[in-house]
Amino acid sequence: MMMRHGGHGAAMNTVMLFAKKGLLGGEVGVPNKWGYFVRSTPLVRNASTFTANLSDQKDDKTVDKTPPSSSSQGGAGDNKDEKGITSYWGVQPSKITKPDGTEWKWNCFRPWETYKADVTIDLTKHHKPTTFLDKMAYWTVKSLRYPTDLFFQRRYGCRAMMLETVAAVPGMVGGMLLHCKSLRRFEHSGGWIKALLEEAENERMHLMTFMEVAKPKWYERALVITVQGVFFNAYFLGYLLSPKFAHRMVGYLEEEAIHSYTEFLKELDKGNIENVPAPAIAIDYWQLPQNSTLRDVVEVVRADEAHHRDVNHFASDIHYQGRELREAAAPIGYH
Ligand SMILES: [Fe+2]
Ligand SMILES: [Fe+2]
Repeated sequence: MMMRHGGHGAAMNTVMLFAKKGLLGGEVGVPNKWGYFVRSTPLVRNASTFTANLSDQKDDKTVDKTPPSSSSQGGAGDNKDEKGITSYWGVQPSKITKPDGTEWKWNCFRPWETYKADVTIDLTKHHKPTTFLDKMAYWTVKSLRYPTDLFFQRRYGCRAMMLETVAAVPGMVGGMLLHCKSLRRFEHSGGWIKALLEEAENERMHLMTFMEVAKPKWYERALVITVQGVFFNAYFLGYLLSPKFAHRMVGYLEEEAIHSYTEFLKELDKGNIENVPAPAIAIDYWQLPQNSTLRDVVEVVRADEAHHRDVNHFASDIHYQGRELREAAAPIGYH
């Protein structure tokens, strides 16, 4: 499973090469190893970068119809009505075409970053808290559950969306702190910076998915801002003081997330929540069949949470053994 993303480096190189060829010679008509066609956006400006002068720039502003690289959705490329942006710098991303000829819509992730979730992962695994620190982490999470249950009751769609705004914070904070540590100490991270940032990105994709099916109310948005302000700083300090505790706490948070998504699935099965078609972003991100539903999405998200649970308990265990994370190879691509 850890090899699911194997060969990314080579894959990226292939894509970069394709993109580059496209940049120099126009559209490239050969699919890459995933069957996707990659070509650069036509760049009028690019070709004359070295001989640019002010009058050229003026002309390009009027003749270049290149569509902007992203839309207000941050992903969809169906933005042809918007005013084109001339790229003097040649930094426009390559265009990707799916095997069926349609355009790859998402700029926030590319085909080689998508995956099939491993839904066979053991959802029942639990780290039994034995030490004082573990118990503290466990009860911190448990005590947070009661106000959450009270606030959301059985509105699992809304609950999932709101909790993902919190869940995407620890990976970013931990990754950032390890990044700074690597710089300060002139040492490798063992891949843990990447693994934690991947977790943060994966959690954010959960949010991008759930916000397609649940729209936050104004007071929920206000709550997110407040909670983020408190949680980001608390986790930052917590991670500085004890990464062992911080990772353990996230491990328990993920165990709770698995429980929440299991309840979500029960409500869907009972018919209390409508099993609507899966959002397009989820179908592409988790390589789901076109006729997938919200239930399929919740299942793959729950599998992701189980992977996060394992990664964070594993990280805490490494610290418990008196070692640093960089001493154990990080589970990159494990989600
Ligand atoms: Fe999540
Ligand atoms: Fe998670």
